[in-house]
Amino acid sequence: MSKLQNKVAVITGGGSGIGRAISLLFAAEGATVHILDLNIEGGQSVVSEIANQGGQGFVHACNVSLQEEVLSIVNTIGKIDILVNNAGIAHVGNLENCKTEDFERVFNVNVKGAYNALYAVVPKMKENGGGAILNLASIAAWVGITDRFAYSMSKGAIFAMSLSVARDYMADGIRCNSISPARVHTPFVDGFIAKNYPGQEAEVFEKLSKSQPIGRMAQPEEIAKLALFLCSDDAGFITGNDYPIDGGFIKLNN
Ligand SMILES: NC(=O)c1ccc[n+]([C@@H]2O[C@H](COP(=O)([O-])OP(=O)(O)OC[C@H]3O[C@@H](n4cnc5c(N)ncnc54)[C@H](O)[C@@H]3O)[C@@H](O)[C@H]2O)c1
Repeated sequence: MSKLQNKVAVITGGGSGIGRAISLLFAAEGATVHILDLNIEGGQSVVSEIANQGGQGFVHACNVSLQEEVLSIVNTIGKIDILVNNAGIAHVGNLENCKTEDFERVFNVNVKGAYNALYAVVPKMKENGGGAILNLASIAAWVGITDRFAYSMSKGAIFAMSLSVARDYMADGIRCNSISPARVHTPFVDGFIAKNYPGQEAEVFEKLSKSQPIGRMAQPEEIAKLALFLCSDDAGFITGNDYPIDGGFIKLNN
Protein backbone atom coordinates (compact mmCIF):
# COMPACT_ATOMS: atom_id res chain seq x y z
CA MET A 1 0.00 0.00 0.00
CA SER A 2 1.20 3.55 -0.70
CA LYS A 3 2.71 5.16 2.36
CA LEU A 4 1.35 8.69 1.86
CA GLN A 5 -2.12 8.04 0.42
CA ASN A 6 -4.43 11.08 0.85
CA LYS A 7 -1.63 13.16 2.41
CA VAL A 8 -0.81 16.69 1.30
CA ALA A 9 2.87 17.66 1.42
CA VAL A 10 4.51 21.08 1.16
CA ILE A 11 8.14 20.84 0.04
CA THR A 12 10.26 23.98 -0.12
CA GLY A 13 13.01 24.01 -2.74
CA GLY A 14 11.36 21.02 -4.44
CA GLY A 15 12.52 22.15 -7.88
CA SER A 16 16.05 20.73 -7.64
CA GLY A 17 18.34 18.17 -6.01
CA ILE A 18 17.17 16.63 -2.74
CA GLY A 19 13.82 18.48 -2.81
CA ARG A 20 13.15 17.17 -6.31
CA ALA A 21 13.86 13.57 -5.23
CA ILE A 22 11.63 13.98 -2.14
CA SER A 23 8.81 15.49 -4.25
CA LEU A 24 8.95 12.63 -6.79
CA LEU A 25 9.03 9.89 -4.14
CA PHE A 26 6.27 11.43 -1.97
CA ALA A 27 4.04 11.82 -5.05
CA ALA A 28 4.79 8.22 -6.09
CA GLU A 29 3.67 7.17 -2.59
CA GLY A 30 0.31 8.89 -3.07
CA ALA A 31 0.84 12.39 -1.64
CA THR A 32 -0.36 15.55 -3.34
CA VAL A 33 2.82 17.61 -3.49
CA HIS A 34 3.06 21.42 -3.32
CA ILE A 35 6.49 22.73 -4.26
CA LEU A 36 7.44 26.22 -3.06
CA ASP A 37 10.50 27.38 -4.99
CA LEU A 38 12.19 30.49 -6.35
CA ASN A 39 13.12 28.43 -9.37
CA ILE A 40 9.73 28.15 -11.04
CA GLU A 41 11.11 26.35 -14.12
CA GLY A 42 12.73 23.67 -11.97
CA GLY A 43 9.48 23.32 -9.99
CA GLN A 44 7.43 23.05 -13.18
CA SER A 45 9.64 20.34 -14.56
CA VAL A 46 9.30 18.31 -11.33
CA VAL A 47 5.51 18.76 -11.44
CA SER A 48 5.55 17.43 -15.04
CA GLU A 49 7.61 14.42 -13.93
CA ILE A 50 5.07 13.82 -11.15
CA ALA A 51 2.18 13.98 -13.64
CA ASN A 52 4.04 11.58 -15.97
CA GLN A 53 4.32 9.06 -13.16
CA GLY A 54 0.58 9.41 -12.52
CA GLY A 55 0.77 11.62 -9.42
CA GLN A 56 -0.44 15.07 -8.45
CA GLY A 57 1.84 18.05 -7.94
CA PHE A 58 1.69 21.86 -7.96
CA VAL A 59 4.39 24.49 -8.03
CA HIS A 60 4.16 27.91 -6.37
CA ALA A 61 6.71 30.63 -7.16
CA CYS A 62 7.93 31.60 -3.71
CA ASN A 63 10.86 33.18 -1.95
CA VAL A 64 10.76 31.45 1.44
CA SER A 65 12.58 34.42 3.01
CA LEU A 66 9.44 36.53 2.60
CA GLN A 67 6.83 35.75 5.25
CA GLU A 68 3.90 37.42 3.46
CA GLU A 69 4.59 35.41 0.33
CA VAL A 70 4.82 32.09 2.23
CA LEU A 71 1.65 32.82 4.24
CA SER A 72 -0.41 33.78 1.21
CA ILE A 73 0.61 30.64 -0.70
CA VAL A 74 0.11 28.28 2.25
CA ASN A 75 -3.33 29.77 2.84
CA THR A 76 -4.41 28.79 -0.70
CA ILE A 77 -3.62 25.14 0.06
CA GLY A 78 -6.29 23.30 2.08
CA LYS A 79 -5.13 20.84 4.73
CA ILE A 80 -1.43 20.14 5.02
CA ASP A 81 -0.16 16.87 6.52
CA ILE A 82 3.57 17.11 5.78
CA LEU A 83 6.09 19.97 5.61
CA VAL A 84 9.64 19.47 4.36
CA ASN A 85 11.86 22.51 4.93
CA ASN A 86 14.44 21.83 2.26
CA ALA A 87 15.17 25.14 0.48
CA GLY A 88 18.72 26.16 1.30
CA ILE A 89 21.80 27.91 0.00
CA ALA A 90 25.52 27.53 0.70
CA HIS A 91 28.34 29.89 1.62
CA VAL A 92 32.00 28.92 1.69
CA GLY A 93 34.21 30.88 4.04
CA ASN A 94 35.42 31.21 7.62
CA LEU A 95 34.29 33.92 10.03
CA GLU A 96 36.60 36.56 8.54
CA ASN A 97 35.41 35.81 5.01
CA CYS A 98 31.79 36.08 6.02
CA LYS A 99 30.58 39.63 5.41
CA THR A 100 27.33 40.82 6.95
CA GLU A 101 25.59 40.42 3.59
CA ASP A 102 26.82 36.81 3.29
CA PHE A 103 25.66 36.03 6.82
CA GLU A 104 22.26 37.62 6.20
CA ARG A 105 21.78 35.93 2.82
CA VAL A 106 22.33 32.48 4.33
CA PHE A 107 20.30 33.32 7.44
CA ASN A 108 17.38 34.67 5.41
CA VAL A 109 16.97 31.53 3.31
CA ASN A 110 18.14 28.69 5.56
CA VAL A 111 16.87 29.92 8.93
CA LYS A 112 14.20 32.54 8.31
CA GLY A 113 12.86 30.54 5.34
CA ALA A 114 12.32 27.50 7.56
CA TYR A 115 10.80 29.68 10.30
CA ASN A 116 8.40 31.27 7.77
CA ALA A 117 7.20 27.88 6.52
CA LEU A 118 6.80 26.54 10.08
CA TYR A 119 4.95 29.73 11.07
CA ALA A 120 2.54 29.34 8.16
CA VAL A 121 2.00 25.57 8.30
CA VAL A 122 1.96 24.63 12.02
CA PRO A 123 -1.40 26.37 12.76
CA LYS A 124 -2.97 24.49 9.85
CA MET A 125 -1.58 21.19 11.13
CA LYS A 126 -2.97 21.95 14.59
CA GLU A 127 -6.42 22.59 13.12
CA ASN A 128 -6.13 19.37 11.17
CA GLY A 129 -5.21 17.21 14.17
CA GLY A 130 -1.49 16.81 13.49
CA GLY A 131 1.22 16.36 10.90
CA ALA A 132 4.84 15.52 10.22
CA ILE A 133 7.62 18.05 9.72
CA LEU A 134 11.10 17.33 8.41
CA ASN A 135 13.82 19.98 8.35
CA LEU A 136 17.03 19.67 6.34
CA ALA A 137 19.99 20.19 8.64
CA SER A 138 23.49 18.96 7.69
CA ILE A 139 26.60 17.29 9.07
CA ALA A 140 27.80 20.91 9.33
CA ALA A 141 25.54 21.22 12.38
CA TRP A 142 27.48 18.45 14.17
CA VAL A 143 31.15 18.63 13.25
CA GLY A 144 33.50 21.52 12.58
CA ILE A 145 33.89 21.74 8.81
CA THR A 146 36.53 24.03 7.31
CA ASP A 147 35.18 27.25 5.80
CA ARG A 148 31.49 26.76 6.53
CA PHE A 149 30.92 29.47 9.17
CA ALA A 150 27.56 30.87 8.00
CA TYR A 151 26.27 27.57 6.67
CA SER A 152 27.05 25.71 9.91
CA MET A 153 25.34 28.47 11.91
CA SER A 154 22.21 28.06 9.81
CA LYS A 155 22.10 24.27 10.13
CA GLY A 156 22.65 24.34 13.90
CA ALA A 157 19.65 26.68 14.05
CA ILE A 158 17.61 24.20 12.03
CA PHE A 159 18.21 21.49 14.63
CA ALA A 160 17.33 23.82 17.52
CA MET A 161 14.13 24.97 15.80
CA SER A 162 13.17 21.34 15.15
CA LEU A 163 13.52 20.50 18.84
CA SER A 164 11.49 23.53 19.90
CA VAL A 165 8.63 22.75 17.52
CA ALA A 166 8.69 19.04 18.43
CA ARG A 167 8.35 19.94 22.13
CA ASP A 168 5.70 22.67 21.81
CA TYR A 169 3.39 20.86 19.40
CA MET A 170 3.64 17.25 20.56
CA ALA A 171 0.22 17.50 22.19
CA ASP A 172 -1.21 18.68 18.86
CA GLY A 173 -0.13 15.49 17.13
CA ILE A 174 2.72 17.16 15.25
CA ARG A 175 6.04 15.33 14.93
CA CYS A 176 9.14 17.29 13.96
CA ASN A 177 12.57 15.88 13.09
CA SER A 178 15.63 16.86 11.10
CA ILE A 179 18.05 14.96 8.92
CA SER A 180 21.73 15.68 8.46
CA PRO A 181 23.15 14.56 5.14
CA ALA A 182 26.84 14.60 4.30
CA ARG A 183 27.60 15.51 0.67
CA VAL A 184 24.82 14.66 -1.72
CA HIS A 185 25.47 14.94 -5.43
CA THR A 186 23.10 17.74 -6.46
CA PRO A 187 23.30 21.03 -8.41
CA PHE A 188 23.96 22.66 -4.98
CA VAL A 189 27.30 20.81 -4.70
CA ASP A 190 28.21 21.26 -8.39
CA GLY A 191 27.34 24.98 -8.08
CA PHE A 192 29.51 25.67 -5.07
CA ILE A 193 32.45 23.71 -6.50
CA ALA A 194 32.21 25.67 -9.77
CA LYS A 195 31.93 28.99 -7.93
CA ASN A 196 34.58 28.45 -5.28
CA TYR A 197 37.14 26.18 -6.99
CA PRO A 198 37.19 27.18 -10.68
CA GLY A 199 39.59 25.05 -12.69
CA GLN A 200 39.83 22.40 -9.95
CA GLU A 201 36.32 20.97 -10.27
CA ALA A 202 37.25 17.30 -10.84
CA GLU A 203 39.88 17.30 -8.10
CA VAL A 204 37.58 18.93 -5.53
CA PHE A 205 34.70 16.61 -6.48
CA GLU A 206 36.97 13.61 -5.86
CA LYS A 207 38.17 15.04 -2.53
CA LEU A 208 34.61 15.74 -1.37
CA SER A 209 33.53 12.23 -2.41
CA LYS A 210 36.36 10.63 -0.42
CA SER A 211 35.60 12.70 2.68
CA GLN A 212 32.72 10.28 3.29
CA PRO A 213 34.38 7.11 4.65
CA ILE A 214 32.03 5.14 2.40
CA GLY A 215 33.96 6.70 -0.52
CA ARG A 216 31.26 8.59 -2.41
CA MET A 217 28.57 11.24 -2.15
CA ALA A 218 24.95 10.25 -1.51
CA GLN A 219 22.38 10.26 -4.28
CA PRO A 220 19.33 12.52 -3.69
CA GLU A 221 17.08 9.44 -3.92
CA GLU A 222 18.82 7.92 -0.88
CA ILE A 223 17.96 11.04 1.15
CA ALA A 224 14.37 10.92 -0.12
CA LYS A 225 13.92 7.38 1.25
CA LEU A 226 14.81 8.50 4.79
CA ALA A 227 12.56 11.54 4.38
CA LEU A 228 9.69 9.27 3.34
CA PHE A 229 10.10 7.06 6.39
CA LEU A 230 10.24 10.00 8.81
CA CYS A 231 7.20 11.71 7.25
CA SER A 232 5.11 8.53 7.09
CA ASP A 233 2.99 6.95 9.80
CA ASP A 234 5.70 4.24 10.13
CA ALA A 235 7.68 6.83 12.12
CA GLY A 236 4.80 7.58 14.49
CA PHE A 237 7.01 7.17 17.58
CA ILE A 238 9.81 9.41 16.30
CA THR A 239 9.96 13.11 17.14
CA GLY A 240 12.55 15.65 18.27
CA ASN A 241 15.48 13.82 16.68
CA ASP A 242 18.12 14.37 14.06
CA TYR A 243 19.18 11.56 11.72
CA PRO A 244 22.61 11.72 10.10
CA ILE A 245 22.68 10.15 6.62
CA ASP A 246 26.36 10.55 6.01
CA GLY A 247 28.29 7.51 4.75
CA GLY A 248 30.08 7.41 8.10
CA PHE A 249 31.19 11.07 8.02
CA ILE A 250 30.42 11.94 11.65
CA LYS A 251 31.44 8.79 13.49
CA LEU A 252 33.85 6.89 11.21
CA ASN A 253 36.23 9.60 9.97
CA ASN A 254 39.37 8.37 11.70
N1 LIG B 1 23.72 18.68 -1.33
C1 LIG B 1 24.32 18.45 -0.21
O1 LIG B 1 25.46 17.96 -0.15
C2 LIG B 1 23.63 18.77 1.09
C3 LIG B 1 24.16 18.24 2.29
C4 LIG B 1 23.52 18.53 3.50
C5 LIG B 1 22.39 19.31 3.52
N2 LIG B 1 21.90 19.81 2.34
C6 LIG B 1 20.71 20.64 2.42
O2 LIG B 1 19.69 20.08 1.62
C7 LIG B 1 18.85 21.11 1.10
C8 LIG B 1 18.71 20.95 -0.40
O3 LIG B 1 19.99 21.00 -0.99
P1 LIG B 1 20.25 20.58 -2.52
O4 LIG B 1 21.63 20.08 -2.55
O5 LIG B 1 19.15 19.75 -3.04
O6 LIG B 1 20.21 22.06 -3.20
P2 LIG B 1 19.77 22.58 -4.64
O7 LIG B 1 20.51 23.87 -4.87
O8 LIG B 1 19.92 21.50 -5.68
O9 LIG B 1 18.23 22.89 -4.44
C9 LIG B 1 17.81 23.89 -3.55
C10 LIG B 1 16.46 24.40 -4.02
O10 LIG B 1 16.08 25.44 -3.10
C11 LIG B 1 15.58 26.52 -3.87
N3 LIG B 1 15.73 27.78 -3.15
C12 LIG B 1 16.88 28.43 -2.84
N4 LIG B 1 16.62 29.59 -2.22
C13 LIG B 1 15.25 29.68 -2.14
C14 LIG B 1 14.37 30.65 -1.62
N5 LIG B 1 14.82 31.78 -1.06
N6 LIG B 1 13.06 30.41 -1.69
C15 LIG B 1 12.58 29.27 -2.26
N7 LIG B 1 13.37 28.33 -2.79
C16 LIG B 1 14.69 28.54 -2.73
C17 LIG B 1 16.40 26.52 -5.16
O11 LIG B 1 15.76 27.23 -6.19
C18 LIG B 1 16.51 25.02 -5.41
O12 LIG B 1 15.41 24.55 -6.19
C19 LIG B 1 19.50 22.43 1.54
O13 LIG B 1 18.85 22.89 2.70
C20 LIG B 1 20.93 22.04 1.85
O14 LIG B 1 21.52 22.90 2.81
C21 LIG B 1 22.49 19.56 1.13
